[in-house]
Amino acid sequence: MVLTVLLCTLLVVSTTATEPELRPNIVVLIADDLGIGDISCYGNDSFRTTHLDRLASQGALLTHHLAGATVCTPSRTALLTGRYPVRSGMQEARHGPVVVRNVPGRAGLPADEMTFARALRDAGYRTQFVGKWHQGWSCERWEDQCHGPRGHGFDSFFGLPFSLMEEGEDGPVSQRRDEPLLRHVLPELMLADPQPPLRPGDCHRAAAELAWRLWLDTINQTDFRGGSTPRANWWGHTMAVEKFLNYQLVRDSTVVDWPYQLAGLTQRLVAESERFVASAARDGEPFLLVHSFLHPHTPLFTAPEFRGVSGHSRYADNVLEMDWAVGRLLAALDAAGVADNTLVHFLSDHGGQLELVGPDGQREGGHNGVFRGGKAQGGAEGGLRVPALFRWPGRIAAGSRVEVPTSALDLLPTLLEALHLAVANYPDPAVEHCGRADGLCACHGDDVRRLDPPRLFDVQADPAERREIPSEQVPVAPSQMDQFELVVPRAELLPWGQLHKFRGADFDMHGLHKWWENGGSCGVVPGQCEEYGR
Ligand SMILES: *[C@@H]1O[C@H](CO)[C@@H](O)[C@H](O)[C@H]1NC(C)=O
Ligand SMILES: *[C@@H]1O[C@H](CO)[C@@H](O)[C@H](O)[C@H]1NC(C)=O
Repeated sequence: MVLTVLLCTLLVVSTTATEPELRPNIVVLIADDLGIGDISCYGNDSFRTTHLDRLASQGALLTHHLAGATVCTPSRTALLTGRYPVRSGMQEARHGPVVVRNVPGRAGLPADEMTFARALRDAGYRTQFVGKWHQGWSCERWEDQCHGPRGHGFDSFFGLPFSLMEEGEDGPVSQRRDEPLLRHVLPELMLADPQPPLRPGDCHRAAAELAWRLWLDTINQTDFRGGSTPRANWWGHTMAVEKFLNYQLVRDSTVVDWPYQLAGLTQRLVAESERFVASAARDGEPFLLVHSFLHPHTPLFTAPEFRGVSGHSRYADNVLEMDWAVGRLLAALDAAGVADNTLVHFLSDHGGQLELVGPDGQREGGHNGVFRGGKAQGGAEGGLRVPALFRWPGRIAAGSRVEVPTSALDLLPTLLEALHLAVANYPDPAVEHCGRADGLCACHGDDVRRLDPPRLFDVQADPAERREIPSEQVPVAPSQMDQFELVVPRAELLPWGQLHKFRGADFDMHGLHKWWENGGSCGVVPGQCEEYGR
């Protein structure tokens, strides 16, 4: 229903039956934790987000767009799949973390979920994901990416399997007595991992896996199941361990920086997307680019040239660096000559986080306008109602506003409709062919029929599509996030054979603040940071 509203409201120039199938390029820009009150096209006059304002003036601004959830992992699941996260166990858990917690853990977007990337790739699109993923990574070994972008329809990936993390996690809860094992012993063992190919029975790896086993057993017994009240936050880590487990910058399946440097990371991700747009446009291939910003999630790192530009706050400087990046990506579409044939969608994954305050008392979370609540606050409007813009020149009226409720869950079907996908329209419902004299149905015009609501069949149990499933019978999967076995990091899921490259990289710094103030670390391998000219 909402989908139809979204599409009908957006498409002002209706297509005719004789028009050939459309193959617009698609660019989806996802902000991380940005509030609806943080950008000037939504009324914030404390500073100007000029590039987002321009995008809004060239397309449609949605005033009532709702995220699928109020924290990152489930909201992005909803966006990618068009399904509520409870369908795939990606929702928050009662006794576990609210999001996917470990890159080398087993929780993640199930391999059999359909994503808009997979649908577009199957329709002949070149697909790339750049930036923060946070949908889990692998099942049996690092490279399988059963939960990763490459397992979900993206030909290529450059970014963070996980998310930025603030130093607040480095609290007393995670200072458990067994931590030194992981903090000191494992890095030593793992960084001693020999050059590939690994020899069977390699003793470093065996020793590391044994130490890891002991560590997991301790958490399992004392923190997770121990006593009548399991300790809260059993999944927490110290920052050093966090970086060791979860701070990889990855190209496809190759770790290129670990722990990744924050300095210049925004620019590095933008450069990647620019290259992708230029190359797909040059080859004349329709493309899907998802650019998932690290901004304005904490820690609020910005390149030196953006510090103080807002005249407002560190948070606003961060928003303006993101706005600059949006401008660069729009310019890349112009330079490649594809802007007119590209549908650009910008949105935030959910509302701003109201509780975040820096050490100096400055607020570090987003502003949700007049709406109550924010990130991680259940159904409160401020956590769900997000800024959302669509631009598709000639098809979406410039400067339009959509004021009816719309949903991030509608992106997948909306994109597919933009390609004119629908079901064949049989003139005689009893005879399942479209009855054209030339024998071939067309995928548009009178030959197709739009379904409202869509119909659902279990094609395994019911391959002939005879028994429609009432939508209220669609099963709900229990959350993966409070299942110890799925959440905890596992030695076998680390990128073995790639670790030796990062020997000497600083996994042992005290706290993230110091780390990012120092510009992060590139590690010691020559050429490791060369993509960004360092
Ligand atoms: C603009 O956004 C900043 C950052 O979230 C916020 O502190 C400020 O209150 C907002 N200003 C207005 C006028 O809404
Ligand atoms: C945790 O403990 C339970 C019960 O003793 C055991 O079945 C399970 O395999 C353990 N899990 C891990 C990951 O060690």
